[in-house]
Amino acid sequence: MSTQRHFRVWRGDDEGGELTDFTVEVNEGEVVLDVIHRLQATQAPDLAVRWNCKAGKCGSCSAEINGRPRLLCMTRMNLFGDDETITVTPVRTFPVIRDLVTDVSYNYDKARAMPAFAPPSDLEPGEYRMQQVDVERSQEFRKCIECFLCQNTCHVVRDHEENKPDFSGPRMFIRAAELDMHPLDERDDRKELAQAEQGLGYCNITKCCTEVCPEHIKITDNAIIPMKERVVDRKYDPVTWLGRKIFRRDQVKH
Ligand code: SF4
Ligand code: SF4
Ligand code: FES
Repeated sequence: MSTQRHFRVWRGDDEGGELTDFTVEVNEGEVVLDVIHRLQATQAPDLAVRWNCKAGKCGSCSAEINGRPRLLCMTRMNLFGDDETITVTPVRTFPVIRDLVTDVSYNYDKARAMPAFAPPSDLEPGEYRMQQVDVERSQEFRKCIECFLCQNTCHVVRDHEENKPDFSGPRMFIRAAELDMHPLDERDDRKELAQAEQGLGYCNITKCCTEVCPEHIKITDNAIIPMKERVVDRKYDPVTWLGRKIFRRDQVKH
């Protein structure tokens, strides 16, 4: 069955823009990205949108639909009422390039700043061994598709450009947590680094990031809160404090 639906799509560039109204055909079983593609094909050939897999796996079609951060390709049209206007805008936290396409470099800059996995110096690649239980522990975090919806939603940076230099965001916190629990990672300062250099302390565990994650990663409960707890434990535990004094392990390595 096919119907005509009302869409409002933000059009513009880094200098400004506005919502543009469209009436467009929608067919049963379609997702919002299908409708955006139909708009491109029939009414707005220069409408810019980023997408790749149309299967919720590449993480490139992030946008805001009726104000909620979502993947365009995983948002089914039957989620909305028959007469409901569908408003599609670019993600708000990153600068607009054009229409629905934003510049997500912030996330790549933060990823580059994170120290990489530090493999055991006494083993050659191919000699690494892990228990299955350790593999499974961090498996949840490896499901991340880098859609950056969590980064876009986090109120620490959403309307606060000034916090971006000091805050790496929830996607980077799950990476830090993954490395922190990795039995072969030689660094022992992942939590301290998250606190000192990635802005873990800015997070007040509102869980908004978790709510929008299309991979249903429990970002706050399974990554952020345990890291916050452990970094506090270490800092205030007198035995650890004495050990660090003696062995001078309180320096953050780079
Ligand atoms: S839980 Fe922390 S990282 Fe997640 S949205 Fe809230 S403040 Fe941001
Ligand atoms: S943690 Fe979830 S919301 Fe954040 S970038 Fe990864 S998949 Fe997207
Ligand atoms: S197009 Fe790949 S996640 Fe939507």
